[in-house]
Order: sequence, then structure tokens, then C-alpha cells
Amino acid sequence: MTLSSSVSAPATPYVDAFERRIDYLRVSVTDRCNYRCAYCMGEAPVFLPKRELLTLEEIDRLASIFVTGGVRRLRLTGGEPLARRGLVDLAKSLSRHIAAGALDEITLTTNGSLLVPHAAALFDAGVRRINVSLDTLDPEVFARVTGGGRLADVLRGLDAARAVGFGIRLNAVVMAGVNAETIEDLVLFAHRRDMSVALIETMPIGRSNRDTSRRYVPLAHVREALARRWTLVDLPDRSHGPARYVRVEETGGRLGFITPMSHGFCRDCNRVRIAADGRLATCLGRSDGVDLKPLLRSTESDEALREAIAAAIARKPQGHVFDASRPDLGGIDRAMWSTGG
Ligand code: 5AD
Ligand code: SF4
Repeated sequence: MTLSSSVSAPATPYVDAFERRIDYLRVSVTDRCNYRCAYCMGEAPVFLPKRELLTLEEIDRLASIFVTGGVRRLRLTGGEPLARRGLVDLAKSLSRHIAAGALDEITLTTNGSLLVPHAAALFDAGVRRINVSLDTLDPEVFARVTGGGRLADVLRGLDAARAVGFGIRLNAVVMAGVNAETIEDLVLFAHRRDMSVALIETMPIGRSNRDTSRRYVPLAHVREALARRWTLVDLPDRSHGPARYVRVEETGGRLGFITPMSHGFCRDCNRVRIAADGRLATCLGRSDGVDLKPLLRSTESDEALREAIAAAIARKPQGHVFDASRPDLGGIDRAMWSTGG
């Protein structure tokens, strides 16, 4: 793979200099959240002024340009996407691309606390799979981790989402002394309800790096512990992102491991992100990218945007720079909640 071969090829928005095809876009629809997860926001996040946030129309326009450019899967994230008024309408509008055959699916990452009022409408809007962040089933630990969240809200939200028929994956950020010791319970809880689970290594992103790093657990250790109790059978499917999945023989459920710290997964990276303020982040672990908002607000030309996107993707870094052996080295000063998880 050489740079020159792709430079001579026609510039398209979806292939980077390492011949990775970009067909997955994650869009943060808001930087706000009703939770304050320790590893994400810390206690006193500074949110963007409203005028800095893309409008829903701007998000629709940008996402649609990516779809025209070959993006097949769209994930709406935040902050907490359901905290953004009009989110369901946005999903419904973007679903036109699914109906037209240009898009495979629209998914959502949520903390689950607002699913009770929104689950049915979201499903009707065309969303079929959601990821729900849930680190623990202990109400007190949950409140501590989320900065005051009520576990019961999320559990009811999960019931509501299951009732309308969503495919659900639980996301758990594994932290020593917080939930690393009770992952089994979480897996059993999920698998009994036909949900899959993805375990995530804490990444030094955002403003609470010190505590996050102190609690870092390589997922290989968690896997070893789980393998003492269960038979874990590797599944080949990696097409949906960076998780490596196993099937737990005893439960029949799926369990994923997302290891940004201990095992780089950049080689197959197929994704870029749009932050809530219109910055295009071509790599989660780096500060590279381009602010699309000025262009978005100054031109009617989708072509100009397409070119800016193509140029940014052509500069997508080969990989991120988290260093698992030096978790004390802070990551980047860009919070997960504004970039989109
Ligand atoms: N490290 C790892 N995962 C994180 N998330 C948020 N911040 C971090 C972090 N610093 C997770 C959330 C959510 C997903 C989108 O990203 O828990 O499940
Ligand atoms: Fe909110 Fe998700 Fe960040 Fe927690 S991790 S504060 S739920 S955006």
C-alpha cells in the first residue's frame, strides 16, 4: 500500500490514503447530557454555546452528503442524543436514505435514561438497533459512575426498547474497583434478555484522564476471568466495527471486546465522526480533522463540502496514539461527549 497509488486515483470522499473505505459515519447531535460519567465528562463540563451546535437541518444535510459519498451506516450519538429535541424527526428524515437503498441502517448510542418516552417513536422513525451504555447493575455504583443517574430509569428504558423490538447491545466501560469485578452479572443480565454486551477499555479522552487511567483494565484480563467460568467461542464477524466478539456457549449470547488501548484496531477503521459543532474528526484518538461548520453556513454548494470532506479523509491518520503502557499520559483534550462515542 503506497501513498502515491491512492494520490493518483480520483479523490473520493470515502477512501483514505491507506485504502480504508469509509462507509460508517457517527454523528454527535448534541454535546449535552443528563449524566456526568466520570470517564467522560468529569463533574463540570463546559458545553458549547447553542449557536455553535449544528442545527438538525445542518446535520441532515451533512449526513446526506456522506451517504451520497458511500456511507452505508449512520450512528447518532452525543452527549445524549435523546436529550436533543427533534432527534426522532432527524432520524425519520434520514430514513429516506434507507428507503432509497442508499443507506443500510441508522443506529443510536444512548445512556438509556430517556428511552421510556422515546423508544416507540424512535423505532417508527426507522432505527432498529441501539447501543445502551450500562456499566453496572448496582444502583449505588451506577449513581456514582454517572454522577447521579438512576439505574431504574435505564432498566425501564431497556424494557421499553425490548418491547418495541430493538436489537440492543449494552456498552460497559470496564473499570478496576468499579465494575471489573461484576462483569459476569452484567453479561448474564444481558444474555437472559437477548441483548449483547460490549466491554470497552477506558480511553484517556476528555477531562478526567487521571481517574480513568488509574482504573484502566486490559480486557485480556477480564476475558481470562470470564473464560474460567464460561466457554468463549471466537466469532469471525468484525464487520460492524472495532469489537471482537465471542459467543458464550453457556448463555448463547454475544460478548464483544473493544480494546482501543491494548490492541490497536486502526487497520480496519472504516469510520469518521462529526462532532456536535460540525468538526469532522477522522480519528477518535487524534486531534486531526476539519471544521465543516463555516463551509456549511457559507455555501449552498454540497460539492464544496464534498471536497472538504474528501480532503480531510485523505489525511485520516493511520492510527491513534493512545499508549497502553503509559496510561498516565493524558490523551487528547477533546471530550467523548462532544466528538461522539
Ligand atoms: N473511555 C472509554 N469509553 C468511553 N465512553 C465514553 N467515554 C469513554 C472513555 N473515556 C463510552 C461510553 C459509551 C460509548 C459511546 O463510549 O460509555 O458507551
Ligand atoms: Fe453522557 Fe454518555 Fe458521557 Fe455518560 S458517557 S456523560 S451518558 S455522554
